[in-house]
Amino acid sequence: HRHLLGIEGLSPLDIQALLDLADEQVEVSRQVEKRKTTLRGRTQINLFFEASTRTQSSFEIAGKRLGADVMNMQVGSSSVKKGETLIDTAVTLNAMRPDIIVVRHHAAGAVHLLAQKVDCSVVNAGDGAHEHPTQALLDALTIRRNKGRIEGLTVAICGDILHSRVARSNMILLAAMGARVRLVAPSTLIPPGIARLGFETFTSMKEGLKDADIVMMLRLQRERMNGSFVPSVKEYFRFYGLDQEKLSFAKPDALVMHPGPMNRGVEISSDVADGAQSLIREQVEMGVAVRMAVLEALASHLPNR
Ligand code: CP
Repeated sequence: HRHLLGIEGLSPLDIQALLDLADEQVEVSRQVEKRKTTLRGRTQINLFFEASTRTQSSFEIAGKRLGADVMNMQVGSSSVKKGETLIDTAVTLNAMRPDIIVVRHHAAGAVHLLAQKVDCSVVNAGDGAHEHPTQALLDALTIRRNKGRIEGLTVAICGDILHSRVARSNMILLAAMGARVRLVAPSTLIPPGIARLGFETFTSMKEGLKDADIVMMLRLQRERMNGSFVPSVKEYFRFYGLDQEKLSFAKPDALVMHPGPMNRGVEISSDVADGAQSLIREQVEMGVAVRMAVLEALASHLPNR
């Protein structure tokens, strides 16, 4: 593959190969003397039209750990502010001959469109409510390292599924790798018709978390709601916030995940987020390894310039 635009389009073998490569990168990332220079002389541009802490910084660190020259485009102070379009911005940057552009955009499909206009590799770092493929890969790597497998596990994805690109990419990946995926949310935050695609849906945390191996929590994405869903935070937390009591509905050795950013006291309590069953900080470390793996996998497809 020349680009990574989504989990959709990757085969289970592609996913497994990326996870195996990412497993190697965990050690490379931890030990300076094992670092490779696969991307030496290559230019990587990070083009983020939406806010990010984890994804942007880990793509920058991943590129640098592989020897790339990494440029973070400051969209807030760019000519986007003067009305330049996404495509003109991309074509302008492409003329400077980068090798890889990593893009986050608020519109679903924007990254696919951009990939058609440039001749370098493009990586989707999140497009609207559509896909966030490297998040799903880092979640899968974290699950595999802790549970030894993905196949046969019961994974409950809980919260604002409707607006979540993380949920969407995870649903595609986990189903492809043989996990049982449950969606747990108020009915207004479950995508219509999703049950027809084979995903079990629950409006009760007690039922949805029963016998779950993994409990994956999601942030309420108010920025994508246009004011249409406004329960009080207290009410939302009471029914859908993960606290110790609700976590006890899952298997005793269940592990808790959250892609971040977290809203403590809204979708998750602090004691669960920081507790012994939480993998949240490990997910962040795996984010660097997975992004190194993705960049290295693309390296073999980069044109000679
Ligand atoms: N999980 C995730 O994408 O976090 P950021 O928005 O901080 O990059």
